[in-house]
Amino acid sequence: MRVLVTGGAGFIGSNLVDRLLVDGHEVVVVDDLSSGCRDNLAGAAAADRFRLHELDVRDPALVDLASELQPEVICHLAAQISVRKSVADPVHDAAVNVEGTARVLTAAHEGRVRKVVFASSVAVYGRPTTIPVPGDAPNDPRSPYAASKVSGEIYLATFRALYGIEYTTLVLSNVYGPRQSPEGEAGVVAIFTDALLSGTPTVVYGDGTQTRDYVYVDDVVDGFVRACGQEGNGRRFNLGTGIQTTDRRLHALIADAAGAADKPGFAPPRLGDLPAMAVDPVPAHEELGWQPRTDLGTGIKNTVEWATKRRRK
Ligand SMILES: NC(=O)c1ccc[n+]([C@@H]2O[C@H](COP(=O)([O-])OP(=O)(O)OC[C@H]3O[C@@H](n4cnc5c(N)ncnc54)[C@H](O)[C@@H]3O)[C@@H](O)[C@H]2O)c1
Repeated sequence: MRVLVTGGAGFIGSNLVDRLLVDGHEVVVVDDLSSGCRDNLAGAAAADRFRLHELDVRDPALVDLASELQPEVICHLAAQISVRKSVADPVHDAAVNVEGTARVLTAAHEGRVRKVVFASSVAVYGRPTTIPVPGDAPNDPRSPYAASKVSGEIYLATFRALYGIEYTTLVLSNVYGPRQSPEGEAGVVAIFTDALLSGTPTVVYGDGTQTRDYVYVDDVVDGFVRACGQEGNGRRFNLGTGIQTTDRRLHALIADAAGAADKPGFAPPRLGDLPAMAVDPVPAHEELGWQPRTDLGTGIKNTVEWATKRRRK
């Protein structure tokens, strides 16, 4: 099958590209390299079933590209991913995440695409009252980023109603693993790993009891691959473990894997930080046959190994 991956030079996208190539698919990446990089696709570039188009998803040329290539599936991961940047510049966030998604769906229509698989975020749930959050929990967007993801989900349903384009929305919890950038605000595993390997101080916001649901990138990629099939059309699934891990425990696990002292500094919680988060993965298991297979200890070990090798380059 020919799959177009938007954001395929990024953290999750490039891991997805590698898996699709291993599975024997033909992969076309559209990425403007604004946060992703060619290095992430160094392995993929060696395959003759792979092509990278350096292109903004908002560019009308995306529609021509899809018309020419007629991919069977589009995995849409390209996005402005920072909640804080979305608050500082909601217009830019909407341009990339809303206009960009409308362009991707127009391209899907013109390119006779069967299905679009969309990367959404737990941010759509706002401050949930039930944890783990069920996949049918109401939307409660509390940032422009969350609003843009909700909007993307609505556009998918609209294009399905208009043109019959199938879709599955995957609500990703805190994804971590090789190739995650420590530059952003959200990739706390990458941030702690980078700091602990380089001997710079680490900071835990709050008293360390805040929880998140960490899911390993290979497992998330497996969710995308499953969603590319016939199952889950018109549905939204959580990809998470359902397990809450405290910031303090996460720090201890990474320090241990990195051979560093487990002595974080503490700072007051940041405005808008949620005290707890985990999502219910059971529907993804029942309907896509998906389950998170990588335990946190193993995933962190792999991530620290990767980061250690990268630092030696
Ligand atoms: N990492 C997480 O924990 C997480 C959690 C929830 C949702 N998500 C979603 O998953 C997707 C991938 O996230 P990631 O963590 O891999 O981020 P990332 O920044 O590594 O990847 C995003 C990719 O999109 C590209 N991109 C950005 N704007 C673009 C544009 N206008 N045109 C073309 N390409 C563009 C970037 O260059 C980058 O390669 C995003 O949609 C994000 O919102 C991620």
